[in-house]
Amino acid sequence: MAKKVILDVDTGSDDAVAIMTAIGCEDLDIVAICTVWGNLEVEDTTINTLELVSAMGADDIPVYKGCSTAMVKYLDPTGIPFMSHAPIIKDGKELSIHSKRLGGLKPTDKKPEDIDAVSFYVNYLKNAKEKVTLIPVGPLTNLGEALSIAPEIVENIEEIVIMGGGDSLANVSPCAEANIWHDPEAATIVANCGASVLWIPLDATHSAALDMEDVKTLKEVGTFASKFAAGQVEQRIEFENAAYGEGKNDSAIHDALAVCAVIDRSVLTEVEKCNVKIGLFGFGAGETIIDRRRSPDEPNCEFAFKASKERFMEMLCEYLGKENA
Ligand code: BDR
Ligand code: CA
Repeated sequence: MAKKVILDVDTGSDDAVAIMTAIGCEDLDIVAICTVWGNLEVEDTTINTLELVSAMGADDIPVYKGCSTAMVKYLDPTGIPFMSHAPIIKDGKELSIHSKRLGGLKPTDKKPEDIDAVSFYVNYLKNAKEKVTLIPVGPLTNLGEALSIAPEIVENIEEIVIMGGGDSLANVSPCAEANIWHDPEAATIVANCGASVLWIPLDATHSAALDMEDVKTLKEVGTFASKFAAGQVEQRIEFENAAYGEGKNDSAIHDALAVCAVIDRSVLTEVEKCNVKIGLFGFGAGETIIDRRRSPDEPNCEFAFKASKERFMEMLCEYLGKENA
């Protein structure tokens, strides 16, 4: 029987690949997609999600619009600001890793559902007959709010697979990854809610980064989804080359790895049970801190350190290559 999942996205280039991968996989039953702010304003992440779901011919999947900012973080005027870099201009064009609109999608008549994402989580999970796996790949605000309103919903959560955090890697501050940095309080609530938690951090996603050979392979698969994904990966590589130097010529497609890990855990090749705490203040805000004392606190999660790039690509080609995808 297909595994019931809810995706929570801030679409976003790699979110887009994640959504298409999930839609293409018959072993997943997508109950809903919730949107949140993060890569872009929530209005934009919602439109991007709706347009992509329609383009995939999956209008039957309900989309719930979620939170527009963090639970607490941005209320503090003394907080450390987002460390954005100067605009990256190449050949007179400003490059971005997440365009405001995913390129090449048609406008859609599909609308978000009438209730918001937080209310959806509370209503659905209170009454669910079957446990559901949650795959949040943006800031954790929707779930943090829902778990604050109705902590008992944890009973109907099979597992929470979070794309976020990092042990040896960071991306938006010297020690934090974007999804956790944006809403560390929500991440703390989610990480300690009592459900099984699997982290897909930057360590794992960067170990399976895709390059221009992979872009070519995805294009050759030849479906709408594979070609669209190839375009998103290419855009990310172009941006990262310009922003961080031409040397690496690849990009981590973070959110899609989280979806693949739900489908087939063996895509992760190094996973450890450990205790992770989350920094809340100052330069430590959003840091995922692994308890490395000789006598650490009890494990509260599994944390993935490495993934198989080969298996990841194999899965992307399979699920993005489905006829209707
Ligand atoms: C995460 O942040 C977002 O920019 C991406 O979509 C991904 O979820 C990577 O740090
Ligand atoms: Ca994301």
